[in-house]
Amino acid sequence: MDYLEIEGGSPLCGEVRIQGSKNAVLPILSAALQGTGITVIDNCPDISDVSAMLEILKGYGCSTRREGKRLIIDAGDLHSGRAPEDYAGVMRSSIMLLGSLLGRLGEAFLPYPGGCVIGKRPIDLHLQALREMGAELTEEPEGLRAVCAHPAGARIRLPFPSVGATENVVLLAVRAEGDTILQNAAREPEITELCRFLSCMGAKIEGAGTGTIRIRGVKELHGTEYRIQPDRIVAGTYMLLAAAAGGKVALRDAPLEQLAAVRKVLSQMGVRQESSGNHLLLWCPGRCRGGIQIRTSPYPGFPTDLQSQLMAALCLAEGDSVIDERIFEERFKSAEELVRMGARIHIQGSRAFIHGVGKLHGERLEARELRGGAALCIAAAAAEGKSRIHQYHYIARGYENIIRDLKALGVMVQCR
Ligand code: UD1
Repeated sequence: MDYLEIEGGSPLCGEVRIQGSKNAVLPILSAALQGTGITVIDNCPDISDVSAMLEILKGYGCSTRREGKRLIIDAGDLHSGRAPEDYAGVMRSSIMLLGSLLGRLGEAFLPYPGGCVIGKRPIDLHLQALREMGAELTEEPEGLRAVCAHPAGARIRLPFPSVGATENVVLLAVRAEGDTILQNAAREPEITELCRFLSCMGAKIEGAGTGTIRIRGVKELHGTEYRIQPDRIVAGTYMLLAAAAGGKVALRDAPLEQLAAVRKVLSQMGVRQESSGNHLLLWCPGRCRGGIQIRTSPYPGFPTDLQSQLMAALCLAEGDSVIDERIFEERFKSAEELVRMGARIHIQGSRAFIHGVGKLHGERLEARELRGGAALCIAAAAAEGKSRIHQYHYIARGYENIIRDLKALGVMVQCR
């Protein structure tokens, strides 16, 4: 798999079914470590981040098997081994294992987490919160050593509603002695989903999806069967593709109730939408309107994970727009590539000023991270001429088969 070749410029026409959610399944895979029986996860997306996480789980003695969309996990022989560095060191979500391993085994060693190159991404909030529950954490040259023989419930207030820190607290609190009250918790749908999954395993959790989550620790969690919800970011990516390239796009199994902020922006841009259940039809009668001023923020605000894709669409819209990226620094990596395609973008600190141009032209492009890579696919599909997108492996971290999906929507794309 060398590069993606996209011949852009034709309006879209087609339908895709939205895959299972990456950001939901990763913490759920961590949670599965806590089950004493077999856990079956259905609608699991076939993405490289999941494959990496499964390799990491194997490093701790877990056995895993994939049967199509189903994953079967047996954590019966879990031990406090070492996650293979090749995987854990490049994957941010490996930090998510900390709460689970401590809850189940009382100790853990994790190579320092990696992930997309979108800023510093510290883990101080995770560490502080876990310490408040009794964890002793030592930063060693190769990774983090954690011990927590008797996790204790605590009243914790996060200084910022970090998604990962919320997940780690919940993952340890379900096995702690007593009650944990987590304030200023993240409200992302993936938190609600993790808590729903843990509840199916026997955990006692209230308030998921609100700013205060209450967890009563239990002695043991059991295996369960669970179906992963569709991916709101993948759905949002294809919605923004429709805004950029024009034409008519239908999405099946799109989690529309989680996409209100994105749908509102698309309406302002003049994209027409018709929904029925989890089915969404979008069409663009002409060039989209710009004039958008948006700031990324925690859920239910506009998601940072769709910021790059929105930028790609706004490059072609009529008028000037401003995007203020408030969650991650350095999340404008695809802007440089868009400029080489003819876009007019000016970056100043956390803000990107975008002057919409009538057209972009095909280019040799390089994906530098997951969502920025998806944004380049959007720009290439809307541009005139041929584009080649190198470093496609970043996109495969979160999109199960973007070639299949783009083709289904009428984009001329191939893998070279
Ligand atoms: C998760 C998502 C990611 C999404 C992000 C924000 C997964 C696997 N990833 O990432 O796709 O973009 O939420 O919606 O679910 N921070 C600290 N200290 C910490 C933790 C976070 O300063 O200990 C900062 C981060 O640097 C960042 C902000 O808080 O600026 C948000 O991070 P967080 O909500 O934790 O995101 P992730 O869980 O890493």
